[in-house]
Amino acid sequence: MTRFAPSGPLRGSLRPPADKSISHRAALIAAMGEGETAIEGYLDAADTRSTLTAVQALGAGVEGFGAAGLEPTLRVRGVGLRGPAPAAIDVGNAGTLLRLLPGWLAGQEGGSWTLDGDDSIRLRPVDRIAAPLRRMGAELSCREERLPPLGIAGAPLRGIAYEMPVASAQVKSCLLFAGLLAEGETSVVEGLPSRDHTERMLAAAGATVERSGGTVTVHPAERLEPGEIAVPADISSAAFFVVAALLVGGSEVVLEQVGVNPTRTGLLAILERMGAAIEVEPQGERGGEPTARLRVRPAALVGIEVGGAEIPLAIDELPLVALTACFAEGTTTIRDAAELRRKESDRIATVTTALNALGGRVEATEDGMVIEGTGGLGGGAIDSHGDHRIAMLGAVAGLASRDGVEVSGMEAAAVSYPGFESDLDSLLRGGA
Ligand code: S3P
Repeated sequence: MTRFAPSGPLRGSLRPPADKSISHRAALIAAMGEGETAIEGYLDAADTRSTLTAVQALGAGVEGFGAAGLEPTLRVRGVGLRGPAPAAIDVGNAGTLLRLLPGWLAGQEGGSWTLDGDDSIRLRPVDRIAAPLRRMGAELSCREERLPPLGIAGAPLRGIAYEMPVASAQVKSCLLFAGLLAEGETSVVEGLPSRDHTERMLAAAGATVERSGGTVTVHPAERLEPGEIAVPADISSAAFFVVAALLVGGSEVVLEQVGVNPTRTGLLAILERMGAAIEVEPQGERGGEPTARLRVRPAALVGIEVGGAEIPLAIDELPLVALTACFAEGTTTIRDAAELRRKESDRIATVTTALNALGGRVEATEDGMVIEGTGGLGGGAIDSHGDHRIAMLGAVAGLASRDGVEVSGMEAAAVSYPGFESDLDSLLRGGA
């Protein structure tokens, strides 16, 4: 149990850790590349370490990655688009690795791979990638036709046009990788825009990737040459301090070099609609992604309706929207977010249980939550259920609560943010 007591203001500035989504893609695309790719500021966390271990198992060389930590710049020697060695891959807790990597492997004729991971990963559906990959000609096997372990026997692929039933950047990215090795073009139609880091990074590495309306098309490629990739700070990690600064009286927090790709900034738009005034000062580009300094202070908040196109742009931050809504005046409704049930935990269930245990009034619905603002939260105990974002949500809830919050399973934070508690301490000390 880790206790987070009601706190004084959070003050000061910090650069949150590197973006997890972008780091996974950087390691995979560097491994697909020719020669050496320098990755500056790769995320040192459990999930993204799983990806480095995976690319090593596939034959890529990774310099600057050891038990002691990660160097500021990693050097990845790629195996080339058609060069991954057969391997059994342990994806750990990383859903992004589980969904993206098969796209690269499915078209490697003659090779075979298995992907498996921890208990939580064994509950993450892979049928969402298996169905379109099979249409392309892939030979795959999975448990109960939808769960890991996932077996891949490389086979010749042909390009398809695929309309995604749910907006998923993981599915889109998987198919774009597969399209690099397929015969003909591969198009993915997304009903609502989802994060586009893969498209940006593949184009920067020399692939032909085009967007027209909601359709992204990739052409087959002979080779990728990523050269250099720099990773901005993760807005999904920054989000915990954004919300803490909004909810704890007297706070003023500055977050530096945060990636503000418009496909990731849904939380900021939602909080603004709730009454927050978050200053976003552009800080140029990093690795083809816009970055900004965020300055956050407390604000009076009102309940709102959240749904539709906003959902994919804020998918990993919706638990924090629910927490914020407990402090707002009126009711907040989150809908169109059934995908939350398929994350590292069933986040509709885990968020509802956690916030209600702390004195919130939250009702779970099939595709979201209805949250009555109660003017704050009392306190109590919650369980992370091994979900990093629930653990960190518990910490923020504790600081903003009247009586404090005990979190069991706080160590789950290391999946995306190993330094979370010490960064939090530094902002709390800044307020002394
Ligand atoms: C991710 C996409 C999202 C997100 C996940 C990371 C990615 O998942 O929830 O944490 O890096 O592509 P979906 O694409 O399944 O919605």
